[in-house]
Amino acid sequence: MTLSDWTPYSWKNKPIGQWVDYPDPDALDAAVGSLSHFPPLVTSGEIETLKSQLAAAENGEYFVLQGGDCSETFEACTSNVIVSKLKILLLMSYILVYGSRKRIVRIGRIAGQYAKPRSQPTETRDGVTLPSYRGPLINRPEFDATARTPDPGRLLEGYAHAAMTLNFVRSFVAGGFADMHHPEYWELGFVNLTERSKEYRRIFQSIDSSIHFMEVIAGKIDTLTQTEFFCSHEGLHLPYEFSQTRRVPRRESWYNLTTHLPWIGDRTRQPDGAHVEFFRGIANPIGMKVGPTMEPDELVELTKILNPANEKGRLCLIHRFGAHRIAEKLPPLVEAVLRANRNVLWICDPMHGNTQTTPSGLKTRSFDDILSELLQSFSILEREGTHLGGIHVEMTGENVTECVGGARGLTMDDLYRDYQSDVDPRLNYEQSMEMALLIAERQASRRR
Ligand code: PEP
Ligand code: CO
Repeated sequence: MTLSDWTPYSWKNKPIGQWVDYPDPDALDAAVGSLSHFPPLVTSGEIETLKSQLAAAENGEYFVLQGGDCSETFEACTSNVIVSKLKILLLMSYILVYGSRKRIVRIGRIAGQYAKPRSQPTETRDGVTLPSYRGPLINRPEFDATARTPDPGRLLEGYAHAAMTLNFVRSFVAGGFADMHHPEYWELGFVNLTERSKEYRRIFQSIDSSIHFMEVIAGKIDTLTQTEFFCSHEGLHLPYEFSQTRRVPRRESWYNLTTHLPWIGDRTRQPDGAHVEFFRGIANPIGMKVGPTMEPDELVELTKILNPANEKGRLCLIHRFGAHRIAEKLPPLVEAVLRANRNVLWICDPMHGNTQTTPSGLKTRSFDDILSELLQSFSILEREGTHLGGIHVEMTGENVTECVGGARGLTMDDLYRDYQSDVDPRLNYEQSMEMALLIAERQASRRR
């Protein structure tokens, strides 16, 4: 569907939250011009497949696992890092299949999660004020004037790194890496070492025997081609999103072809702002973060602006309140959306409302808070007569020490051992698996 009062440019007439001041606006136009001629990163067919799976998730047939880094870096565009991200997503998804008995939609925060919203436009150190670091799509983190000056050339580098990442992911999946007949491909060596390794083994064996049982009855199951990965990122930097927003042959709508599922961040979701304007006209399924300042009327208004046809599979509401606020904040929003009969998929982001700063200034999150917000989200949505459709987590397949807690009981003192994130703290592989296991246990207990 095309909206008569929308164009791919109409966002330019609205207030643009988190705008970046480039010293040379002509260079920005030139970079966007180049990107608009490059081939797209994803296709409209893939986007429509994802939309239909998200519609099925609204009906309770699928569960969404969306995860990855808070901010990808260009340096981490390496085979090892990408493979371990895929493995951890796969492992978590199989644990969730086991618990939920639903098919899982796997969506990485990957191949374009390069632009970050900041609470302050500038940062001051020792009397020197420079622009804030806004992610590798815009500038560099080092605290010097050259590094912090927004550089439009980075848009092209971002596109190139996203393309390299996707190319590798696609070949890996097509080459059989995700085939459930060969779980040894996606096992992370250290699963044996984790505190709960026996439980994981039991789950993987049970999946394996179910596949064999089904194959005896129904013939060989093509678990290879049935495994799909989608990508997503915050659609924050509108010149980048806009540069690959196109009409494709035989389809009427406009697609943002930088990613399958772009989302609007909590800081840029103003109903009359440029981000909402841009997102309302693209045909992709979209996400919107919903934080503690969202009011029920405003949310209903946004669902109408962003999904005028009230299409299923179109709008994911990714809520993020914090373990201590969800019980107060979520129910009125769910009630308002249900009363207005708006179709949405509720996804819980248990990370962004639970960030704390340690006395020495490191950002961290506690495993217990993350789990608590997730479990509350399941219960609240059920109590309100709907269901939680998925989870959105910041996690990595590496053995980092950024979040405290979990089976190994990481403490504040452990954070110094291997803290790598430039932005928000992620669950490490062991904490991610444990989170999936605890959710699966909750889902399994509901079925009994
Ligand atoms: C994020 O997902 O990294 C983020 C910045 O989230 P939010 O917009 O919810 O704060
Ligand atoms: Co984050």
